[in-house]
Amino acid sequence: MQKYTIKLIPGDGIGVDVIREAVRVLNHLADLHGGIKFDFQTLEWSCQYYLKTGYMMPSDGLQILRDCDSILLGAVGFPGVPDHVSLRDLLLPIRVGFDQYVNLRPVKLLPGLSSPIKNEDIDFVVIRENSEGEYCGLGSVENADTPDEKVTQNSVFSRHGTERIIRYAFEYAQKHQLNKVLSATKSNALNYSMVFWDKVFNQLAGDYKHIESSQMHIDALAGYFIMHPDRLQVVVASNLFGDILTDLGSAMLGSIGISPSANLNPEGKYPSMFEPIHGSAPDIAGQGIANPVGTFWAAAMMLDHLQLPEVAERLMQGMTSVLAAQKIRTPDIGGKSTTSEVTDAVIAAIQ
Ligand code: NAI
Ligand code: MG
Repeated sequence: MQKYTIKLIPGDGIGVDVIREAVRVLNHLADLHGGIKFDFQTLEWSCQYYLKTGYMMPSDGLQILRDCDSILLGAVGFPGVPDHVSLRDLLLPIRVGFDQYVNLRPVKLLPGLSSPIKNEDIDFVVIRENSEGEYCGLGSVENADTPDEKVTQNSVFSRHGTERIIRYAFEYAQKHQLNKVLSATKSNALNYSMVFWDKVFNQLAGDYKHIESSQMHIDALAGYFIMHPDRLQVVVASNLFGDILTDLGSAMLGSIGISPSANLNPEGKYPSMFEPIHGSAPDIAGQGIANPVGTFWAAAMMLDHLQLPEVAERLMQGMTSVLAAQKIRTPDIGGKSTTSEVTDAVIAAIQ
């Protein structure tokens, strides 16, 4: 029996619901397989935990997570704790501390879903830099709360960090027989960071001459997502640009509740972390109607990462067939079902 230790961070709001459902599906997959077992260990790190202890996670949090096979996270953030605290004190330390420098986000319209945009030929990935850039957390405040108040927010783009994410994008394209990599930039306005990003992109593109490389300013690219999604294959972007583009990407699939995200440490030195891209959705928390599909898809990416591609495929097929049947679905995609009814249907559909 092969055992996998999975640390769960359900977090806040609907994060708790979707992780509970993912555990049900994963246990079912393990039973069906017969030769694997998941050892789930739940950590209560969340905004509630913060209100009790003053910390989003304990000071040895990374040590606690260090030895697991993967981390599965719901969402963190809730009214009562500022968002920059919940993000900066939990998610970002894990992403940065475990050098999960790749944030991989597929944007693919699954059968049975319809897009709010006309062009429904949507199947591409966004590869987002996840360890530095605009989210490095550096800056300053001068003369706080005076008429002379002035703040700065810095970005950090190292050659090491920029090269490795852009190279990952080209390697990803190569591995998946894709022939286009598009870089998100804004080098007309960001005259240091994005000029540098473009320089590195163009240098690396020279190593992959068989792959078509191009770049587009982020504002134009946002429009291009809507007008020509069929022309996209691999998009590589900095931390901030990738964050914005992927929420747009998920909206193009009909709901933010659909999309997954993998925070990868490709070298396997540290555990990787998988999560839906949505947040804790305080507006629907406690109603039992959160769409669990984004978390199931994230769990499938986790199974792939654990070298269990056939189990991942089973989960994707079960989930896709429920969506394609267009009967059992949550309200965000036009249905009336509850979160757990969707899970029941996915479990029943897994072959
Ligand atoms: P959100 O993603 O939580 O919600 C945006 C809208 O989408 C809401 O109307 C919500 O009801 C809906 N929605 C989201 N996920 C859904 C699902 N699975 N099924 C059905 N509907 C869904 O983003 P928002 O409102 O900006 O943030 C809420 C909190 O979540 C904030 O505290 C924010 O900081 C945090 N957040 C955390 C993230 C994470 O942990 N990775 C990511 C994004 C936000
Ligand atoms: Mg986001």
